[in-house]
Amino acid sequence: MKFFGVLVLCYAVLVVSGQDETTTTTEEPTTTKVTTTPQPQPPDTTTSPTTTTTTTTTTAATTVKPAPAPPAPVPPPPKPGPAYPLNKGKWFVAGEDKNVTYTCVILKGAMQINAMIKNKTVSIDVPVTAVGTGSCAEPQSITLNWNSTVLNANKTSYLINTLTLSFESNSSTGSLSISPDSGITPGKYGLENVSVVLHVENNTFSDQLLSKAVFQTPLNHSYSCFAEEVLKTESGSFALKIREIQLEAYRSTAEGHSEFSAAIPCPADDATDVVPIAVGAALAGLVVIVLIAYLVGRRRSRARGYQSV
Ligand SMILES: *[C@@H]1O[C@H](CO)[C@@H](O)[C@H](O)[C@H]1NC(C)=O
Ligand SMILES: *[C@@H]1O[C@H](CO)[C@@H](O)[C@H](O)[C@H]1NC(C)=O
Ligand SMILES: *[C@@H]1O[C@H](CO)[C@@H](O)[C@H](O)[C@H]1NC(C)=O
Ligand SMILES: *[C@@H]1O[C@H](CO)[C@@H](O)[C@H](O)[C@H]1NC(C)=O
Ligand SMILES: *[C@@H]1O[C@H](CO)[C@@H](O)[C@H](O)[C@H]1NC(C)=O
Ligand SMILES: *[C@@H]1O[C@H](CO)[C@@H](O)[C@H](O)[C@H]1NC(C)=O
Ligand SMILES: *[C@@H]1O[C@H](CO)[C@@H](O)[C@H](O)[C@H]1NC(C)=O
Ligand SMILES: *[C@@H]1O[C@H](CO)[C@@H](O)[C@H](O)[C@H]1NC(C)=O
Repeated sequence: MKFFGVLVLCYAVLVVSGQDETTTTTEEPTTTKVTTTPQPQPPDTTTSPTTTTTTTTTTAATTVKPAPAPPAPVPPPPKPGPAYPLNKGKWFVAGEDKNVTYTCVILKGAMQINAMIKNKTVSIDVPVTAVGTGSCAEPQSITLNWNSTVLNANKTSYLINTLTLSFESNSSTGSLSISPDSGITPGKYGLENVSVVLHVENNTFSDQLLSKAVFQTPLNHSYSCFAEEVLKTESGSFALKIREIQLEAYRSTAEGHSEFSAAIPCPADDATDVVPIAVGAALAGLVVIVLIAYLVGRRRSRARGYQSV
């Protein structure tokens, strides 16, 4: 009976204060939310700093449940962007040191994931609109997040696909190496672990790629590779194709937040010197052939010239 009295009182206060319906649950008999400031509420009461709320609770319950919202409209599916290898994006991870923000990881390039799901290879391009997050703590990492085409259980949003690249460095002095020997040369950093979580139809696929650190690059330098490279698991269950990539981790320079340090090209790019050499050789060969043809032609016409005299 006493509880009912409190409830009626609360309801009266609510009616007087003109409280927004969305934050109160008058249908819930056990809990009531009361606004003690009677001034008119701004539209968004949940973020208003002036709103002080007290909860009158009975012995039974302490939780405040939001009123059941009407079913939200199904969001439009994510728009596909340019397909691999045209899906070149650039992403950053920012950190803070003594109140100075800096960029610890930069990643640029076009990427495609091939995943073996139910014995079928599914290709998923990492969209340029993917959102980059990550960590500047050891091991540094960058995670790209993007909407899959699979709706969540409530059909209110799409499940998020993620691709995470993590890096390790070897600062050479580090006698207190926490990680097991990942084979990183002192003074360098490398890509240590690549993992994905993908939502495809009614499957959730997750896998990771662990190896001796690849793309080993001296600290304060970036790794760059124009040619396509493929990182894959031994079983072939998961592969990451990358093109026109440039990446840098363990950046320690405060200046030039969005710029790469001096680039170290991958061996494959050095090998692409083969193409200009081949073109040059072909051109030289053509010149020789033209020259021979000219000389032969000249000799013939000269011989004919002597005959006509
Ligand atoms: C960082 O900024 C906050 C607030 O601006 C200040 O209280 C703090 O002392 C600063 N710390 C350093 C290391 O400068
Ligand atoms: C996938 O293929 C292998 C051999 O080709 C077969 O043994 C296995 O049962 C298949 N798995 C599924 C889930 O179809
Ligand atoms: C997913 O899509 C919604 C809109 O439908 C958008 O607000 C959100 O930022 C997207 N998330 C990512 C990680 O791209
Ligand atoms: C679905 O909605 C219910 C409440 O309406 C909520 O508790 C739950 O977390 C939602 N699930 C997802 C996957 O968003
Ligand atoms: C760093 O280099 C030293 C010396 O070569 C090696 O013993 C150590 O395992 C390396 N650490 C990592 C994390 O690769
Ligand atoms: C590789 O990354 C995944 C996901 O981020 C993580 O669960 C796993 O522990 C990592 N493995 C190593 C050896 O760092
Ligand atoms: C997933 O989809 C396949 C066919 O598309 C169906 O056979 C299977 O039962 C589904 N699994 C679940 C858990 O819904
Ligand atoms: C990288 O650059 C920073 C700032 O210029 C410097 O303090 C640091 O010693 C450099 N590290 C290496 C390994 O050269």
